[in-house]
Amino acid sequence: MTELQDLVHRAETEFAAISHPAELENAKARYLGKAGAITALMKGLSQLSPERKREQGASINLAKQGIEAALQQRRAALAELELHAKLAAEAIDVTLPGRGQHGGGLHPVVRSWMRIEEIFSSIGFAVAEGPEIEDDWTNFTALNSPQNHPARSMQDTFYVDVEDERGQPLLLRTHTSPMQVRHARAHVQRYAAGIGAMPDIKVIAPGRTYRVDSDATHSPMFHQFEGLWIGERVSLADLKGVYTSFLQTFFERDDITLRFRPSYFPFTEPSAEIDMMFDSGPLKGRWLEISGAGQVHPTVVRNFGLDPEQYIGFAFGSGIERLTMLRYGVGDLRQFYSGDLRFLEQFNPA
Ligand code: PHE
Repeated sequence: MTELQDLVHRAETEFAAISHPAELENAKARYLGKAGAITALMKGLSQLSPERKREQGASINLAKQGIEAALQQRRAALAELELHAKLAAEAIDVTLPGRGQHGGGLHPVVRSWMRIEEIFSSIGFAVAEGPEIEDDWTNFTALNSPQNHPARSMQDTFYVDVEDERGQPLLLRTHTSPMQVRHARAHVQRYAAGIGAMPDIKVIAPGRTYRVDSDATHSPMFHQFEGLWIGERVSLADLKGVYTSFLQTFFERDDITLRFRPSYFPFTEPSAEIDMMFDSGPLKGRWLEISGAGQVHPTVVRNFGLDPEQYIGFAFGSGIERLTMLRYGVGDLRQFYSGDLRFLEQFNPA
């Protein structure tokens, strides 16, 4: 074996033993680099006669090609090995069963909220939403609630440490009734220019409300929906008709009895609590209180910007949690806010 063949052979053996690309490049330098064996041999050519130079030069070139080929081969082999190692490390078993997607779902209270909007929209009510941080005038005064009304006390109301332009602290609305005032005033203003007759004010306003209250049937945050219908001949008979048909649609049954029990609210006169009773099923025969209601008080109608001699109507405010509990048979209101998936998933079957 000539010296050159031996060199090529050594290179081949050395490259084949290398398993790391960086090491391979170092080894390459020992043969083909500036201070490498092949380069040294090339330099030696200058000392030879022209004939020997040609011969030897050709042999060195051959050896050089041999070494380069060995290098390329090893490079490709190492790249291949690396790819295989990577694929093996990332292997996924496509035959495994899927883990299952956990889709979100609607909260039962939200389901009721949407249902209520749908039902009232279908009988011509607009849907309005308003601020949860309310001013004292709109939440209390405009609704004829006297300065010493118990709902105004520090025990019942969450006050905010910010005053409005009247110098009164803002508060988290204690009911959706301030939406009567906001919606009616906006409605009246819209028609103040006298473009034709004013259509009836007919609206529901669902949303969150807040009171310092917490037990099995009360939560510091809860949902109500306000109803308001004001026109020139709207009576409590209309309230009874609207509310009865709402309940029948909401509960999807006709065997419901309603009772209007005399009550007191500063913003209605007369005032009533609406109680309902299922005529069959597990709750049969039990009166359940579901809403405050009444004929809107003349002072409140005046605060809407309307003449109470001409305009009259009814309002109601119902708890959405209460209706949801009755619809689904939920015993404790706190379950709605416990975040317990075992409870919530029952309303969102997969
Ligand atoms: N705002 C009253 C409450 O929260 C309910 C109500 C609304 C009563 C409208 C009468 C008319 O208790």
